[in-house]
Amino acid sequence: MQINHPDITQVLVTADQIRDRISELAKEIDEFYSDKDVLLLGVLKGAVPFMADLSRALSIPAQQDWMAVSSYGSGTVSSGVVRILKDLDADVKDRHVLIVEDIIDSGLTLSWLTSNLKARGAASVEIVTLLRKPDAAKVKITVRWVGFDIPNEFVVGYGLDFNENYRSLDGVGILSPAVYS
Ligand code: IMP
Ligand code: MG
Repeated sequence: MQINHPDITQVLVTADQIRDRISELAKEIDEFYSDKDVLLLGVLKGAVPFMADLSRALSIPAQQDWMAVSSYGSGTVSSGVVRILKDLDADVKDRHVLIVEDIIDSGLTLSWLTSNLKARGAASVEIVTLLRKPDAAKVKITVRWVGFDIPNEFVVGYGLDFNENYRSLDGVGILSPAVYS
């Protein structure tokens, strides 16, 4: 579905921009893991389109696994509570893990997930996120690859939802507050 949609007040990233940025990121990731075996760890459900496009843009062989965690309820404000809804299938001990995330807002989810994977004995844990909001600077996590820095607005599309809607939009845009207020 196209990002030009009546509920989107402003388009922040188009499908073309996402595609171009993903090929740049893929080159850097190929180089970084050229001599290592990498496990791509997607965070459900928002990272599904990003994982699909990024993994296919990579030249290195990579395995995939998925986790579902929740830090948000059904609203638009982070609760700060992280729960595992679906755990990994793979054993991450001694593995090089690359977390594939849709967006970093407060950074609470990823800060928790990074420690959790290290506690399980991962050899390394890196993060690639398609989007990053300004508040992410407040937490101490190193995000090695960022697709786009965006303003502090509630956005949807390319995997990101509001109450499970809008995930299939092909770009990322600001959701009209009229939809959630
Ligand atoms: P954090 O823990 O605050 O960094 O929240 C990260 C998670 O919250 C993301 O993986 C998204 O699932 C969700 N999230 C944060 N900001 C937005 C947004 O603007 N739109 C939709 N989901 C968001
Ligand atoms: Mg997410």
